[in-house]
Amino acid sequence: MARILVTGGTGYIGSHTVVELMQQGYDVLIVDNLSNSNIEVLDGIEQIVGKRPDFCRMDCLDYPGMDRLLSQYSDIRGVIHFAASKAVGESVEKPLLYYRNNIGSLVNLLELMRAHAINNIVFSSSCTVYGQPSAEHLPVDETAPIQKALSPYGNTKQINEEIIQDEAHADKSLHAIILRYFNPVGAHPSALIGELPNGVPNNLMPFVTQTAAGLRQKLRVFGDDYNTPDGSCIRDYIYVVDLAKAHVKAVERMLAETAEEQVEIFNLGTGRGLSVLEILRTFIRVTGVDIPYEIVGRREGDIEQVWAEPHKANTVLGWKADTPVEDVLRSAWNWEKHLRGIK
Ligand code: NAD
Ligand code: WQD
Repeated sequence: MARILVTGGTGYIGSHTVVELMQQGYDVLIVDNLSNSNIEVLDGIEQIVGKRPDFCRMDCLDYPGMDRLLSQYSDIRGVIHFAASKAVGESVEKPLLYYRNNIGSLVNLLELMRAHAINNIVFSSSCTVYGQPSAEHLPVDETAPIQKALSPYGNTKQINEEIIQDEAHADKSLHAIILRYFNPVGAHPSALIGELPNGVPNNLMPFVTQTAAGLRQKLRVFGDDYNTPDGSCIRDYIYVVDLAKAHVKAVERMLAETAEEQVEIFNLGTGRGLSVLEILRTFIRVTGVDIPYEIVGRREGDIEQVWAEPHKANTVLGWKADTPVEDVLRSAWNWEKHLRGIK
């Protein structure tokens, strides 16, 4: 079976993807500098799959190191590039760190792929590239206009997409699949891997589970005066295991060389928008754990409502996010309980 290089493979989405790849028989090499993940993730993967993935602690910015590694692993057929810094707020404080890491890593990787005759890359992009789509573009499909990024982080995703397009134009042997994720949530059903937020979570789901576990006093719901049915913001929450499976489909498509275009773009979401209050109420209902919350003012820069039109991924990739949200929320809670040793 083919070997896939997974950068950022000990991270949240990467680790779930490694599990799905290995369960489909792929050999995996993970490269991660562990800047936002732990080495123990490898134990979780091994417990789930029954086999340990090859791992190299390395920074994607280390060009000579990556060059040596790719020489050593001459069986790599494709790359899934997750490695990036992803905290929106931090990117506003430290833009250069984000530009260096997120842009430099991709440029190095594309250059090295060319040098080592690796022609396939799957890239982690984000629905953030759409900003707030206008009403006629909701749900948002891949043809919706890209809007000026609201943060350096968001801008790195837009620039990365352009870099991939330009390189594919210059190098006709390069094939890329750009995946624009909506809001990934939940954890593996085994509760052996999941999201490991650093410090106080900015994202909704880890904040909810940490409040349920008693680590946070209460959830602050950012705004109930939006132009939505219950006034809170709407997102498309996609189960991380469903998301991981889309990567396997993307890899299969690239290796089979059936792509219609050199660079293909897919929105990965459920097609269903849920409000913050709906998530909260569903979480309380399915876990039986109460979440104290208060409605506070809007969070600066928040998008009012966005959810995916995943038709292209459904038909072309043959993939669908179909895990019920109840199961997804339960998985997030089971993972939090596992982390905190709660029975
Ligand atoms: P994560 O932080 O859990 O995983 C990223 C991994 O990359 C981490 O393990 C980190 O240690 C590693 N890393 C970072 N810079 C590196 C470098 N220079 N060299 C080697 N390793 C490096 O994040 P995630 O949530 O799994 O996100 C994965 C990708 O998906 C990122 O590109 C992110 O921007 C993108 N994305 C995430 C979301 C989300 O909400 N989680 C949404 C859309 C897109
Ligand atoms: C979801 C909803 C908040 C926390 C971010 C990035 C985006 C992408 C995904 C990478 C919003 C509300 C949240 C809280 C709340 N990442 N909320 N109380 O903002 O959709 O997107 O992560 O590409 O680029 O910007 O996700 O989880 O932060 O928020 O009420 O304590 O939950 O206002 O409506 P978001 P989120």
